[in-house]
Formats: sequence, C-alpha cells, structure tokens
Amino acid sequence: MIGKFLPYLTARRWQVAWALLQVFLIAGFELLKPWPLQIIIDDVLGGRRPPVGLIGGGPVGGGPVGGGLLGELLALPKPWLLLAACLGIVVVNIGAGALTLWHNYTAIRVGQSMVNDLRGDLYAHLQRLSLAYHGRQRVGDLLYRVTADSFAVQTMIMNGLLPILSAVILLTGMLFVLFPMDPTLTLLALTIVPVLFALIAGFNRKIVDIATEVRDLDSRVYSLVQWGMAAIKVVQAFTKEAEEHRRFMGASRDSLRATLRLYNWQTLYSGAVNAIIAIGTAIVVYAGARAVMTGALTLGQLIVFIAYLAQLYAPINQITQSWGLIAGARVGAARVFEVLETEADLPSGALQFPIEGAQHEIAWRGVGFRYRPETPVLNDIDLTVAAGAKIAVVGPTGAGKSTLLGLLPRFFDPTQGSVAIDGVDIREYSLHSLRSRIAMVLQPPLIFPLSVADNIAYGRPGADPAAIENAARLARIHDTIAALPQGYETLLGEAGVALSEGEKQRITIARALLRDAPILILDEPTSALDVATEALVMEAVETLMAGRTAFIIAHRLSTVRRCDKIIVLCDGAIAEQGSFAELLRRGGIFAGYYQTQFAPQDAAATELAVPA
Ligand SMILES: Nc1ncnc2c1ncn2[C@@H]1O[C@H](COP(=O)(O)OP(=O)(O)O)[C@@H](O)[C@H]1O
Ligand SMILES: [Mg+2]
Repeated sequence: MIGKFLPYLTARRWQVAWALLQVFLIAGFELLKPWPLQIIIDDVLGGRRPPVGLIGGGPVGGGPVGGGLLGELLALPKPWLLLAACLGIVVVNIGAGALTLWHNYTAIRVGQSMVNDLRGDLYAHLQRLSLAYHGRQRVGDLLYRVTADSFAVQTMIMNGLLPILSAVILLTGMLFVLFPMDPTLTLLALTIVPVLFALIAGFNRKIVDIATEVRDLDSRVYSLVQWGMAAIKVVQAFTKEAEEHRRFMGASRDSLRATLRLYNWQTLYSGAVNAIIAIGTAIVVYAGARAVMTGALTLGQLIVFIAYLAQLYAPINQITQSWGLIAGARVGAARVFEVLETEADLPSGALQFPIEGAQHEIAWRGVGFRYRPETPVLNDIDLTVAAGAKIAVVGPTGAGKSTLLGLLPRFFDPTQGSVAIDGVDIREYSLHSLRSRIAMVLQPPLIFPLSVADNIAYGRPGADPAAIENAARLARIHDTIAALPQGYETLLGEAGVALSEGEKQRITIARALLRDAPILILDEPTSALDVATEALVMEAVETLMAGRTAFIIAHRLSTVRRCDKIIVLCDGAIAEQGSFAELLRRGGIFAGYYQTQFAPQDAAATELAVPA
C-alpha cells in the first residue's frame, strides 16, 4: 500500500522532508523535557552532582545540552540554578508546543495536497474508463470514492506514517539516554512494546473487516441519496416518498450499526492498550523505586525515567488509538486504488484519425457485442456503408440500435469482429482523434449547468456568438432562447432555467451542428418533438447531414424515406437492408412497419407540413 502512495509523497518531497525534520526537532525537545526537573531534584534539592558519564559528555554525546554550557550552569549558585532550570522548563515546553503546532500545519498541508492530487488522478481516470465500466458502477459509490475515500492518504500520513516515525525516533533517542542510566530498568520498560504490537496485530484483522463494511455501507447511503434525488419526479408521481425514506433509513441504520461496532472494537482495543501501559508503568515504577532505595539510581533519574516512559508510550498509544482510523484509511485507499488500477478497457491507438473522416466506407465485420457475458446484444453484424451516405437505422426498442452506432465512437469495443473505417480497424486510431471527428445527438438529451451559449458550443469551445446563433436558428431553437431572461447567457439546468425535452433536443442538435464533424450520429434526435416542429428541425438535420456520413436512428417515415439506405435491426441482428423503395417492394418487416405505423404518420405529416 505504501508503495502506491510513494509517487504522491515524492511529488511533495520538500514539504515531506520538512515535516520529517520537524519530527526530529520535536523529538529533541521531547527528550529535553524531563531534564530541568532532574537538575532541580538532584542538584538543587539533593545537592548531588550527576555522574559524569551521563550528563557531563559521555556516551550520551554531551548530554541533552552541550557539555561545556551544562558544566557552567551546574556550577551556578543553587538559587540561580533553580531559576535557570525553571526557565528551561518553560523554554523547552513552549519550544516543543510551537514546533508541534507548526508541524501539524505542515502535515495537514502535505496531506491535503496529496488528497488533492489523488482525487485529480481518480477523477481523470474515471473519465477515461469506458461506458461499459460505468454501466456496472453505482454513481453514489464512485462519488464516495472521489470525495470521502480519497481522504485516506491524509489520514495515513497524519495518523499513521508521522506518528509511527516520531515514535521510532523518540524511542531510539530515549534508549540512548536511558540505557546507560539503568540497563535493567530500560529493558523492563521495553517489555511491553512487543505486547502492544501483538495486540495491534490481533485487533487489526477485525477492525479492518469492520472498517471495510462501514465504507461499503456508507457508500450505499450515498448511492441511495443520489438515486432518490435523480428519480425524485417518479418518486413523487408514484407517491413512494415513505417507501424511499424507509429504504434510505434502512441503509443509514445499517451504516450506523456498523460504525458503532467499529467504535466498540476501537474502544475495547484502547482499553486493552491502556491496561498494558498501566501494567508496564507499574512494573517500571516498582523496579525503579527499588533501585533508588538501594542507591543505584537517583530520585531525579527515576523522575526522568518515569517521564520518559509516559512519553515513550504516548506515540505508541497514539498509533494504537488511531489504528481504527488507519485501518479505515487503508480500506479507503484500497477502494481508491481499485479504481485507479482498473485498466482502461479502451486502449487508445497510435494512428491519427483523418480530419476529413471516412473516404470510402465504414464497415462492421462479423461484429458481436455483449454488455454482460451471458446476454448477447448484437450478433454477426456485417454491414458496409459508403462514405457520405445517409443511413437510417430502424427497429423495435431494445433491438440494439444505439449499441450498434455506439461502437463507432468506441463507447465500447465489439466482443467479436471489428469496425473498420476505410479498411483500418478503428481501435488503431487514437480515441480522441476518432471521437473529435464524430458529432452526436444522443439519448437522452443532456444539458449542462452552463449558459445556453456554452451548452451549444460544448463541442466547440470558443465558437463565436454568430456561429452559435446560426446553429440555434438551424435547430429551430433561436426564438425560444431569445425569449429567455438573459438570452444566450441564461443559465440552464440544475440551478438555472429548465427546458422541455423537445427544447433540450433542439439544443443538442444545435450542439452537433456547431461541432461540424464529418461523421454524424443521430440517436432519435426528434423523438420528443411534435410532428410540425420535427418537420422543421429535420430540415436543419438534413442540412447537417449533407456532405457527411450520417447515421440516424428514427421512427418517423418522413426522416427515414430520405435516407440512402435503411437498416432494419431486430433482436441484435440485421433483418433487412436496402433503399426505401427496395424494402417496400420486398414486402418484409419494413413493409409491415410501413403499413401499420408509417403510412398513417405519412398522411399526418403531409397534412401538417402544408400550413407550416
Ligand atoms: N449499459 C448497458 N448495460 C447492459 N445492457 C444494456 C446497456 N445498454 C443497453 N443494454 C441492453 O442492450 C439491448 C440493446 O439496447 P439498445 O442498443 O439501447 O437498443 P435500442 O437503441 O435499439 O433501443 C437492450 O436489451 C438493453 O437492455
Ligand atoms: Mg436506443
């Protein structure tokens, strides 16, 4: 896990180095803390010089303060020495406190920057993953991973890495000071360290399991809110508020229960840690007091020992206390990296797709496709379309029309066979270059919470206002836009003005018009329009289709009859294909549609088209 974080750490190496240096400095101050007290007890009150080997410049490396300076200090008259020692207490504590504050700020900054970097990578990666991947995910879960789980890095740094490091440094420093004073007592104090680590290991599994459960249940709550809000209209229309509320409360309660269980285990665990620390302290105090009684240790040294012991256990205690947090963070991090390590299942090719699009033909060769392994959606599709032709795709709902055309911009790749443009498999082209030469009107028509102008120019940012207006005029939406409070600058969507489905559809048509790409895919572009408006919009669509290779999924005869070729799709296979006249003559499925569906519409369209 740490290995995966490394790139994020090294990206901030100077800040991290600074935080580490602070850890060392703080450890230094912490080591100094008990010494003024020792001097007061042994030298001011007890009238005893400390052993030269300990403080005067022996194995301790000059003692906590430089040997020469300390020597001069200790030679001071007692009242002055007392004053100096008390001043020392203040200086050391304020120094440690100030450094700790500074360190917290640095650590939080590093942690937050890493969260930010990780989030950025996660979001970028999510945008690259295929529609097939997104089709399998719950939006709320992804939301949770991006917003909540990504905090894991910070927790791991703040509550894991840095406390562990400072514990190790402090521990080493203290051993250097304590061991020469009294080796036996030092070893005694250390006996509880392995016990503590055994405890961590024992509880770890359990806590990680529950933390995983908490994250999963929490993300389910997110998903339910996201779904509930997205479907609020249906919920209200079917008066299902109470039931949705119950479902939500159920999930929320599950999450609460798991969280409580996690806290229970953490509390139990802290309790066990405290008990062990108390036992350790008792043992050291007992043995230490005996040593003072026999004269092997001074009282001041015992005080230092006990003070160090508290400090020694503090970082260990902190790690163990926050172990639940760290365990949770590890789970969060695992959830983040699970997404990051999902291979983009749509590898981008190396070739640049030609600017002018297809020159000869677009061909589906033996194409099969399934969203899920067990259900084939497309079977054995062999279809060749001449460049510049207008193709209509018709067929019942669920036949696979959108899927068939979705293969062209590589929303997903065929499970069998291939799609080729001018003989080149489209997987060989860079995704970006391929998609940037295809304009699409998709279902459902999506509007962004941006201004009308930005919505239309979504596929061509920076388009000039005249071009945007022209596209809007062609899509027959200009008058509607002009009537909005701020015209083209009116904010749409979520917090802005809401449009009808038909208006949204015309905005998306204007968007495709402005995109100006050689290949065009129109997925039921006029399904929400009334017949009269449709006739008008289709004029625009035909202008749009002229000179391009255009695919249109449509149900209306007026649209279909003007196409060069009609593909009839049934149950994921091509049932018939040919020109309008050919298909009518054949008297097959399409001719049947014509009789039942298109012919009456035909009459209606003709009637309505006359006054318009
Ligand atoms: N993202 C998806 N995941 C799983 N199944 C899907 C997905 N999209 C469509 N399908 C299924 O594939 C079939 C064809 O869908 P589609 O191509 O949208 O049909 P059409 O556009 O002809 O109505 C349907 O049975 C549909 O349920
Ligand atoms: Mg469809």
